[in-house]
Amino acid sequence: MSESQIKLYYKNVTSEVIGPEHGITADQLKQLAEETSPLMSQLNEEKRAGRTPYRDLPFNKEISQKVKELVAELKDRCENFVVLGIGGSALGNIALQTALNPYMHNLDDTQRPGPRLFVFDNIDPVQFGLFLDWVSNRLDKTIFNVISKSGQAAETMSQFMIVRQLLLDKLGHDACTKQVITTTDANQGILREIADNAGFRSLEVPEGVGGRFSVLSAVGLFGAAMCGVDIDSLLAGARDMDDRVSCEVFYKNPAAINAAINYHFYNRGKKISVMMPYSYALKDLADWYRQLWAESLGKAYALDGGEVHIGPTPVKALGATDQHSQMQLYREGPNDKLFTFLQVEKFDRDLKIGPSPDCSPELDFLAGKNLSTLLNNEKIATEYALLESKRPCLTIIFPEVNAYTVGQFIYLYEVTTSFAGALFNINPYDQPAVELGKEATFALMGKPGDEYEEFAEQIRALTEIDGDFLV
Ligand code: PA5
Repeated sequence: MSESQIKLYYKNVTSEVIGPEHGITADQLKQLAEETSPLMSQLNEEKRAGRTPYRDLPFNKEISQKVKELVAELKDRCENFVVLGIGGSALGNIALQTALNPYMHNLDDTQRPGPRLFVFDNIDPVQFGLFLDWVSNRLDKTIFNVISKSGQAAETMSQFMIVRQLLLDKLGHDACTKQVITTTDANQGILREIADNAGFRSLEVPEGVGGRFSVLSAVGLFGAAMCGVDIDSLLAGARDMDDRVSCEVFYKNPAAINAAINYHFYNRGKKISVMMPYSYALKDLADWYRQLWAESLGKAYALDGGEVHIGPTPVKALGATDQHSQMQLYREGPNDKLFTFLQVEKFDRDLKIGPSPDCSPELDFLAGKNLSTLLNNEKIATEYALLESKRPCLTIIFPEVNAYTVGQFIYLYEVTTSFAGALFNINPYDQPAVELGKEATFALMGKPGDEYEEFAEQIRALTEIDGDFLV
């Protein structure tokens, strides 16, 4: 295992630092360890029995081999790589891109190790239309990766149908087939059927792996590898984290401790979890985490069927930006949040702050200092201010941001989510509440079937605008 391990620092949630009213006492932590300990062997057993297939992804050589072969074949004729997907089919791709490719990736050819990357995880007609205007003269150099496990997300399939028509109109049938790669279930679903019929090349969303747990499958690896990310290091990071989160000693297992602390504070009325990276590169990992946490843990029913309506609310923030936006609330508003900072020890590059103008000696204290020193000191200052207000704070420390540490982070949070699911006694792998909205959209869009017609009327009756209430 390399030296470059990310670490979880948890002293600043303890009563020693923020007092017993808001912090965890040594006894409470001990109790938490006892409660969580049986879950460590339970989760390991689930992994061994193949009931959590996302945990096998870092070890799956077949997937990365297939991805690399496809990348080798496509790379020379691909200047633009476009992901069409939503939720778990998109957020991992966005997070990997922001974390591991240069900020100017899409704009500067000299900095870009692969094609430009565009991820469309929404169906805004203005945004998508403007993009299609731009790309329509570049279609022969553009690969569209349509990602949908179910193959029936209305958003993704609509985007696909627009793009397909554009490709057919501009390039014709054979070329259209060459420009589309689908990533979907191996055997079932509408997209699988389309891919098989049209002869699109295809990658798989592994069976039993939900969208938000799929970034280390072809869902995230293909786009990452196309754009030059070292997917071997990403997977190596996840594998090394697997060792650490499989450890059955509570105090050595960062996923168990992380989940247990989150669970403890939820039960003490801190139902909001704020993730606040102090690094631009990590900002979209907080977005990825938000979906993972919300969709996995927000549940109506416990495993025994009892109605619970449980789940921490994840919030993403960005340091230092949000110090000037959310911090007033975080310090003086209700003490109902647990904070998790993401901190980077060594940035890829640094900048020295220039000398202060002669007329402003007040700024001399900044002159000549590194920007990374300012950013990291702002993290410490913010944490200090929160601790003074008795707000519990965790920190994930990244020695540096690279594919290896990002792979660790992703896997750490996936397994933390499994632990949290077990502690909350809910199923973290389903998302039944998302279905009603999907079905309602189908009904409103005129999907055939009597049940949809009736359903559409019911929806309209409830949501129709009543002029009496319009001001
Ligand atoms: O995590 C999940 O399961 C969801 O966010 C899905 O990824 C999202 O709803 C998209 O579904 P699909 O991949 O079937 O298009």
